[in-house]
Amino acid sequence: MLNNHDLSRCNTFGLPCVAQTLFKFEQVSQLPELSTAINEFAQHRVLGGGSNVIVPPNLPGLTIQVANKGIRLLREHDNFWLIEACAGEVWHDFVAYTLEQGWYGLENLALIPGTVGAAPVQNIGAYGLELDQRVHSVLAWNLLEGELHEFSAEECEFSYRDSMFKRAKSGTWLIVAVRFKLPRAWQPLLQYPDLRDHASLQAAPTAKAIFDAVCEVRRTKLPDPTKVGNAGSFFKNPVVLAEQFELLRSQHPNVVAYAQADGKYKVAAGWLIDQAGWKGRAAGAVSMHPRQALVMTNCGGAVLEDVLNLAQQIQVDVQQKFGVQLEQEPVLYA
Ligand code: EPU
Repeated sequence: MLNNHDLSRCNTFGLPCVAQTLFKFEQVSQLPELSTAINEFAQHRVLGGGSNVIVPPNLPGLTIQVANKGIRLLREHDNFWLIEACAGEVWHDFVAYTLEQGWYGLENLALIPGTVGAAPVQNIGAYGLELDQRVHSVLAWNLLEGELHEFSAEECEFSYRDSMFKRAKSGTWLIVAVRFKLPRAWQPLLQYPDLRDHASLQAAPTAKAIFDAVCEVRRTKLPDPTKVGNAGSFFKNPVVLAEQFELLRSQHPNVVAYAQADGKYKVAAGWLIDQAGWKGRAAGAVSMHPRQALVMTNCGGAVLEDVLNLAQQIQVDVQQKFGVQLEQEPVLYA
């Protein structure tokens, strides 16, 4: 265990942060020891790649950094490959590796920052695919009870940027590995406008071509967290009732929204923030990105307070202008 460990480089927003004590989890044999260790601290939490978190200057208690590695083909079924990846693997490197092996189906999720273990927590999604469509099961250690569980995709209760792991009491679950069900009869997913209209994907695209196109689109629109601190989309796209959407559309005919299967509408938060005049605007040491208003960036030297202040100003303004409540997407660590 390490004391007073600097985590400024372990959160992609680049906020200053010192963990009182850090435990690096690298292998399954450490799990029982971990469950004992947490009892020595008043609080503890689990940290993955730090790409979807907002952190305070000091993290009291124990911070567990997930760093176990390994990828293997568990079984070849008639219809799918069953692949297991350890939680500490870097998500994008894992996606690239699966493509090299000819296990297709994750290419739409290329270049998402973070680790494999963090991916199910917020059910990552992009370009027409959400993780839950590819998850077979999740192996997770209950830190409080000291027991390993395997959850089927259904038991993970996935929904848009949400899962039972995200809703559970912080510090309960440590995801150890994720098992993926990748179809042997691969089909391209091209319904998302950025891919449907992409020049390189017009005639019988391969999974590799989709992977390359997704990387290109993301590099064009989204700031690279290794160069400009950010935590991806800062707010979820709000889901509103049909009546509320009709009212919104009557006042703002250009509003961008997607009809959902249950009759509700998912409104593009980036559009709301952009229209409210926040795109490219700075406050304190943070600003909303000039090419994607949904992403808050660190202008250099930002601290937690800057982030919370700007987030609140935007929430109040969007509520006043559009009557829509924006919900923060990254997890706030306390
Ligand atoms: N828009 C604007 N102004 C902006 C940004 C967006 O008007 O500044 C409008 C545009 O009309 C655009 C629409 O909003 O067509 C949607 O924007 P975009 O296609 O960039 O996607 P998004 O809804 O803003 C979501 C995810 C992203 C994911 C992309 C692609 C959420 C919260 N965000 O963004 O995920 O990469 O779709 O699938 O669902 C993340 O979660 O961190 C993330 C980056």
